[in-house]
Amino acid sequence: MEKEVKILAIESSCDETAASVVVNGRKIWSSIVASQVEEHRKYGGVVPEIASRRHCENICWVADGAMQEANLTFEDLDAIAVTYAPGLIGALLVGVNYAKGLSLATGKPLIPVHHIRGHIAANYIAHPDLEPPFLCMVASGGHSHIVEVLDYTHFRVIGCTRDDAAGEAFDKAARAMGYPYPGGVFIDKAAQTGNPKTYPLPHPKVDGSPYDFSFSGLKTAVLNTLNHAAQKGETIIKEDLCASFQQTVCDLIAGKLMLAAEEFGYKKIVFAGGVSANSGLRARLTAECQKRGYEFFVPPLSLCGDNAAMIGAQAYYEYLAGNFAGADLNAVASKNIE
Ligand code: KG4
Ligand code: ZN
Repeated sequence: MEKEVKILAIESSCDETAASVVVNGRKIWSSIVASQVEEHRKYGGVVPEIASRRHCENICWVADGAMQEANLTFEDLDAIAVTYAPGLIGALLVGVNYAKGLSLATGKPLIPVHHIRGHIAANYIAHPDLEPPFLCMVASGGHSHIVEVLDYTHFRVIGCTRDDAAGEAFDKAARAMGYPYPGGVFIDKAAQTGNPKTYPLPHPKVDGSPYDFSFSGLKTAVLNTLNHAAQKGETIIKEDLCASFQQTVCDLIAGKLMLAAEEFGYKKIVFAGGVSANSGLRARLTAECQKRGYEFFVPPLSLCGDNAAMIGAQAYYEYLAGNFAGADLNAVASKNIE
């Protein structure tokens, strides 16, 4: 029988304190996510200092809870994994220091995991047969990348955003329309009953870089649409503006991703990150892949946003590759996935 590698994973890069026990990178034995979103909502975005404090308060009970739910003691673990980059530095430091302390106290090896590699690995849990190589679109609150996943621990970025991330664009557009933070999910909901043709928005291009994104102009276009209507005393149909915005994001992401798939010869396409929860994007990418005979993979909604199970999934492959860290591991606010 295959050895069971049991990893306790910790995630604290933004506003979720999470811990999970994952076995052989594919099976979740426990997963706890303590979200701070309600508290940050009052301020219209994540307040880093508050996030760090809440992580400090939550980390012990969240990790203990994950161990209890998995019915394990620290002795039973094969390794301890933690998100060390990228993210809010004060938030990352809480998880990193907790994991380092636990590793020193238990003598279990420490595995540093890149947050975006984790988002991609959420797909390994959801799709047991999925193996690299494949082409992945990662869209979250902080990142929008088209990535070649060459194998479990080797990546090549083909394109990225030049300004706002996709999730950031959703959140800023939503804020302009009066929705609470984080607004991506509200746009998604409203767009379902809206007409995407009512307010045509621009499709920004990055000159000479067919796989790079630029989303900030889209947010400005939404603001202009709202302002012009206000000046003329017209009312905006929010559902229609949401549908137009979402359709434009779909056009941009699907267009560049399919172009990259053709150019680089990928027939296996994966979607990951918080924005992969978007119903319009899920449907559009499913259809585009189906049309071309490509396989398409996306995590279930429960694994799209930040969680520690995805960190545990990637950690297994880092473990197999021998990517361990010592007590000198530090948190890094921004770091390339490669
Ligand atoms: O991956 P994630 O949970 O955190 C980061 O690593 O950034 O992504 C959060 C982002 C937020 O911008 C949020 O608005 C967006 O994902 N998001 C969505 C949806 N659900 C979450 N965007 C569009 N449609 C959704 N249904
Ligand atoms: Zn994330």
